Amino acid sequence: MKHFSDAYRLKTPRSEALFKRAREVMPGGISHNIHFFPPYPFFVEKTKGSKIWDVDGNEYIDFWMGNYTHILGHRPRVVVQAIEEQLKEGIHWGALYRKQIEWAELIRELVPSAEMVRFCCSGTEATMYAIRLARGYTGKKTVLKAAGGWHGANSDLSLGIKMPYEREESLGLLPELQEYTKVIPFNDLSGSIEVIRQNKEDLAGIIVEPVIGEGGFTPAAKEYLQMLRSETRTREVLLIFDEVISCFRVALGGAQERFNVVPDLTTLGKITGGGLPVGALVGRREIIEASSPEKKGNKWERVLIGGGTFSAHPLTAVAGLAMLRYLRAHRKRIYPLLESKGEKVRKRLQEAFDREGLNAAVTGIGSLFQTHFPFEKGVTLNSPQSIHRLTDLEKREIEFRVRMLAKGVHVMHGGGCLSIAHSDEDIEKFIKATRKVAREMKRE
Ligand SMILES: Cc1ncc(COP(=O)(O)O)c(C=O)c1O
Repeated sequence: MKHFSDAYRLKTPRSEALFKRAREVMPGGISHNIHFFPPYPFFVEKTKGSKIWDVDGNEYIDFWMGNYTHILGHRPRVVVQAIEEQLKEGIHWGALYRKQIEWAELIRELVPSAEMVRFCCSGTEATMYAIRLARGYTGKKTVLKAAGGWHGANSDLSLGIKMPYEREESLGLLPELQEYTKVIPFNDLSGSIEVIRQNKEDLAGIIVEPVIGEGGFTPAAKEYLQMLRSETRTREVLLIFDEVISCFRVALGGAQERFNVVPDLTTLGKITGGGLPVGALVGRREIIEASSPEKKGNKWERVLIGGGTFSAHPLTAVAGLAMLRYLRAHRKRIYPLLESKGEKVRKRLQEAFDREGLNAAVTGIGSLFQTHFPFEKGVTLNSPQSIHRLTDLEKREIEFRVRMLAKGVHVMHGGGCLSIAHSDEDIEKFIKATRKVAREMKRE
């Protein structure tokens, strides 16, 4: 083989042909940037449990699991049945119905910060509304986010995602963004306190993922979260946890339950909707109620959390309700199981790289994991800034991904997540494939 993608190319000719068609009608052939990778992404035919099959008939053990959504595996019976039942009653009504109350009540029961719930259609929308609410409620303008943190593509937070962190993320965003959105270094106590104090006069909110995706699924140190909590509380600034990935995953009640730090607002997505499009903003009653249409006064005394043709879509509501009820009913089995699977995968994966002599570092918590390829040995990877500066991102995003696909494993950011559908056999196959890939990477 001349190039590391040759084996992948050989087994995916139909995907290659479809990609040629796709890029004629969609820029880069995709509808989410993360789906693109060279030479071309594969196209899915069907999924079940821990597996994906592509249009060429190849089977992959999937660790991406619908952007970390499918905690019960692909197409779990309990969710499929709920959707099928709902279809008998209707698809989309644009009006109220009982199940959305049950869904909101269940979220309130499970998530410590959730006194009230506002549904929307994506995590991006949820973080956009969270920032608007923080500014509207406090009457201040500045928002702090973690350097390297990803909260979806909403304009207010499209800064400091990729290095260099100090400027807006792309063309089309106002340069003035950096006057009111600023970055704090994740997991760096004194560095973050300094930025908080510099901005204290105009600070509306701090948004942070307590288990940060771009940071290799590294949890924030408990003292770091406690510092954010106390700095925000004493200054009447809102603390917002973005738990789009971590809620219902690192614990049923999210990272806030696991670390026992309760924010003012929380953004939700992914698992919340059982695999259908979803976002939600939850938090303290008096803050969320600032958006209520029942609130008296003129429009400048309310925060506009507006429409959303498909907000709290009936199919999403029943899928989310079925998912969350299942997780609640089986929490004693599911969470320890995911925890032990995750620990096993991280340990075995690291051993596989070490044994093959390839410099790689596996990070993560609970059922979440990633692999990184540091430029040097022995570095500490506990934040996006450390991963962005000290590791070879291209090796992870392209070479490792493509080589693993050729061996029948679908990873994202060098890893992904475990679901209860991942068997011991899947894990063994994954480790075996990793050892082969590590050997190839070392050799070539
Ligand atoms: C932490 C976090 N926040 C927000 C988002 C945006 O969610 P969505 O893709 O549903 O807009 C994501 C998406 O991956 C995310 O990981």
